Amino acid sequence: MSASKHQQYQSGFANEFATEALPGALPEGQNSPQSAPHGLYAEQISGTAFTAPRHANRRSWLYRIRPAAMHHPFEAMPAGRFHNRFNEVPANPNQLRWSPFPLPSEPTDFIDGLFTVAGNGGAADQTGVGIHVYAANRSMKGRFFYNADGEMLIVPQQGRLKLATEMGIIELEPLEIAVIPRGVRFRVELLDETARGYIAENFGTMLRLPDLGPIGSNGLANPRDFLTPVAAYEDVEGKFELVAKFQGNLWRAAIDHSPLDVVAWHGNYAPYKYDLRRFNTIGSISYDHPDPSIFLVLHSPSDSEGVSNMDFVIFPPRWLVAQHTFRPPWFHRNIASEFMGLITGEYDAKAEGFSPGGASLHNSMSGHGPDAATYEKASTRDLSQPDVITGTMAFMFETRRVIHPTKQALESPELQGNYFECWQGIHKHFAGG
Ligand SMILES: [Fe+2]
Repeated sequence: MSASKHQQYQSGFANEFATEALPGALPEGQNSPQSAPHGLYAEQISGTAFTAPRHANRRSWLYRIRPAAMHHPFEAMPAGRFHNRFNEVPANPNQLRWSPFPLPSEPTDFIDGLFTVAGNGGAADQTGVGIHVYAANRSMKGRFFYNADGEMLIVPQQGRLKLATEMGIIELEPLEIAVIPRGVRFRVELLDETARGYIAENFGTMLRLPDLGPIGSNGLANPRDFLTPVAAYEDVEGKFELVAKFQGNLWRAAIDHSPLDVVAWHGNYAPYKYDLRRFNTIGSISYDHPDPSIFLVLHSPSDSEGVSNMDFVIFPPRWLVAQHTFRPPWFHRNIASEFMGLITGEYDAKAEGFSPGGASLHNSMSGHGPDAATYEKASTRDLSQPDVITGTMAFMFETRRVIHPTKQALESPELQGNYFECWQGIHKHFAGG
């Protein structure tokens, strides 16, 4: 890691961070002195119930130029393609796959370029997940955004982003992910001409690192590789717009200053990023293909022990060495529902048709697995040699509840009507008893 990265980020997962862009801006010994240093206002943002147990309690104190309350009334924005209407059409048991979602031809920023593909649950119940893609060709200018409905897990597929948040700046590139907590205001700037990627909008319990059980104290995503920005602020006045996502709808309010005016903050409720290339992959070294939970990066627990509201799983470069075994993912059906995306390269269970920027959805108990070409190759593979998978990164948003594709996703030209055919060429080998 370079020295500049050390200055820009603080390392650790949900640590009790403390950072100031101006020396002396953090009060000593109390959170809200009668008058905060430098004429700042003290403001707390809580991401969990006040009474959540200490290990799960998440809040931060912000020392800012103006309080978050200072803006004009919100007005409803016209409903766009970014929403939480998951019940417009019946949930679909078909295997579904989409070709890469298109980049915009008109000037489009991150907010306008959001397209809701699928989801379940919603903000009102505080469970479930919204699944969206974004495609943009210009930076947000004069507008800021926050999501009161859920934290946003951003998975860039193409183009680098600069996330200017209340709590500091995150620079993000494909193969990295970022999480913006509920309520934190931010602006997305493009560092390349275009940007495209995926978003999980988590309505449930905040994402956390999984317990490791018998794996031990190391492995999967290491806490030290999660990076939270240091404080950075804007002292800017003008005619701006604050866009809020609230109970599935978008609202906008006029605001006469940049809300990214937090000069210092401390606490454990903050945005962060993580480089997927740092994932310490665990796999079978004897026989059988492990369940995808072995690739779990972050998860949102549900009220049922061991059952996630949402899992974020990756399929990174790795060695396959197991013996007497079909090495790629086998044919399977799960109670869980699986939305997959591909950041780069090829996914090892599909020979073609699943492309970077595209997606697939295999819902609860819908049969799926390797296509015919992959099956033929893998079932005759010389297992005395290891396979090495390189240059790829696929991921999955897996949920306990069925993932409802939206009407607009089912009607989009990217939906592949012939996806089912990839399993039609599977031969009958059984010759009778
Ligand atoms: Fe699957």
